[in-house]
Amino acid sequence: MEIISSISELREARSALKGTVALVPTMGYLHEGHLSLMRQARQRCDHLIVSIFVNPTQFAPGEDLDRYPRDPDGDAEKCRQLGCELLFMPEVAQIYAPDHSTRVEVQELDQTLCGPNRPDHFVGVTTIVTKLFNLTAPDVAVFGEKDFQQLAIVRKMVADLNVPVEVVGVPTVREPDGLALSSRNRYLSDEERRQAPAIARALVSAQRAWQGGERSAANLLERANAELSQATALRPEYMQLVHPDTLRAYAPEDDLSQKPAHLAIAARLGQTRLIDNLRLDRP
Ligand code: PAJ
Repeated sequence: MEIISSISELREARSALKGTVALVPTMGYLHEGHLSLMRQARQRCDHLIVSIFVNPTQFAPGEDLDRYPRDPDGDAEKCRQLGCELLFMPEVAQIYAPDHSTRVEVQELDQTLCGPNRPDHFVGVTTIVTKLFNLTAPDVAVFGEKDFQQLAIVRKMVADLNVPVEVVGVPTVREPDGLALSSRNRYLSDEERRQAPAIARALVSAQRAWQGGERSAANLLERANAELSQATALRPEYMQLVHPDTLRAYAPEDDLSQKPAHLAIAARLGQTRLIDNLRLDRP
C-alpha cells in the first residue's frame, strides 16, 4: 500500500492503476463501519483507494474540527489489512489553496434534517467529494447509510452533474446494543454511552410498529419518542419521518400506507451530536 499526501503523487499512482477503481472517502479514526465500506469496495472493483481527510469546510465554527479524533498509524494499518492500494492523506493546504473560491451545492435536499442545524455542512461535503472524485477518478464510490442525508445528497449531485461514478450505499454497522458506530462515540462519557442506544431503540420501535401495520405518522413518531424520552440526558434535535429520496418530511397527520418511510433522528448527548436513521418499510 502506498501512502500519499500530495496531489501530483496521487495522480501519478492513480494513472498506473489498470482495471476498475473504488474510492472510500473518510475522515479517519476508522472503525468497523468504515471497514465494511472498504470490504464492499474491494468486492466491486479491482483496486481500492481510501482517503482520510478531516475536511475543515464541513465543520462550522464551534464544532469539533479541532478535537476530531485522529489515528493515522492505526488507520493505515487497517487500510493495509483490507487490501487498500492507495491511501490518500493530504494536509489541508494541499486540498484548499488560500484563494479557493468554488463550492458545489445541492439545493433543497440540504434544507431538511441536519441542514438547518448545520448550514454549509453539506456544501463542504459535496465540494470535497467532488474534489476527491476528480483526483481519484473512481468507477465506484462507497458511502454509509449511517449518514443517510449525505448519501442522498451525493447521489443527487452525481445525477445532476453527470458525474461518471457509481455511488454505492452500505448498511449501518452497529454495536451489539444497537448504537451506530461513529468516530464521535469516543467523546461519550460512560453514562452518556449507556444512554446513547435509546436512539437506535427508538428507530427499531417505530419499525416494529410499522411491521405491525401502523401507518399513522403521528403514532409512529410517538412510538419512537417513547423510547427516546427514556434517555434523560438525550436532547433530541429532530426526529422526522421523511421520504427516503426527496427527504421531505411527512406531517404527523399523514397516513403512510403505500408511502416509503424513513425515520431520522439527531440528538445531543452532552457535547456530542449523534445521528441515526432507519428505513421503516423494509426489513
Ligand atoms: P466519516 O464520518 O469518516 O465517514 C466516512 C464514511 O463512513 C461515510 O460514508 C459514512 O457514512 C460511513 N460510516 C460512518 N459510520 C458508519 C457506520 N456505523 N456504518 C456504516 N458506514 C458508516 O462521512 C464522512 O466521513 C465525510 O463527510 C466525508 C464523506 C468523508 C467527506 O468529508
